[in-house]
Amino acid sequence: MDTVTTIEEVREAVRGWRREGLSVGLVTTMGYLHEGHESLILRAAAENDRVVVTDFLNPTQFGANEDLSTYPRDFDRDRDLCENAGAALFFYPEVSEMYDADACTYVDMDALTNELCGLTRPTHFRGVCTVVAKFFNIVCPDRAYFGQKDAQQLAVIKRMARDMKYGIEVIGCPIIREEDGLAKSSRNTYLSAEERAAALCLSRAIFVGKDMVEAGERDAKAVLDAMTQIIEAEPLAKIDYVKMVNFDTIEQIDTLSGNVLCAIAVYVGKTRLIDNFIVEGIE
Ligand code: PAF
Repeated sequence: MDTVTTIEEVREAVRGWRREGLSVGLVTTMGYLHEGHESLILRAAAENDRVVVTDFLNPTQFGANEDLSTYPRDFDRDRDLCENAGAALFFYPEVSEMYDADACTYVDMDALTNELCGLTRPTHFRGVCTVVAKFFNIVCPDRAYFGQKDAQQLAVIKRMARDMKYGIEVIGCPIIREEDGLAKSSRNTYLSAEERAAALCLSRAIFVGKDMVEAGERDAKAVLDAMTQIIEAEPLAKIDYVKMVNFDTIEQIDTLSGNVLCAIAVYVGKTRLIDNFIVEGIE
């Protein structure tokens, strides 16, 4: 695996692969990789001849009072994980490589981003779309892999790729969980031992909600009430949102039908955690 820091080095590597007729997969990350990222790289390596992993802590997707300055970093561990999972190129750019000092062009959308995380993080998805669009333009992959853990982000990027005619297949991959159910996240490292135990209220709520839907419940309020009760029973947890939306439009729904995303965001202490389940093709 080669490690590179400039856009030109990525373009040159991809040009070489294309000349040989090889397919290219892309996994974008903000570093501090865990088994969730590893599962994306393994899948990308299984489905493509070459895989590019980007490791870039993207400043434009963080709000003023968010955790950009304290976000965990571990370059050596990240690079080893990528190499062992089968990546061919590890792209680790500086902020100045990705954003010109006077950059004034962004990628944004009118729909899908005004709900869920977009409500509490109003500039977040503009930052995500902008940086992912840049990576799409730099790498020009055949396929790009994103975790379902960030389900709204997955829906947003699928829509951006469709609307902007990238011709890139955006593939969603399942949530990877700790043995006790907590969804893997780089932000789990912020949790104290007591908060780590309290954080299990998220996955408990998700499992109960999913069971209800799979057993045939179609009333969103009934499912959300049951989930809310579980989270509210945990003194260290404070709900940001517990919502049921259409997965394609990210609009709230009262009755479950079609592709449904049930998403939650909960503060455990100061750490904001998210989790979700998706049920597709409900009649
Ligand atoms: O999911 C993430 O880690 C980030 O939002 C992404 C897609 C790498 C863009 O910075």
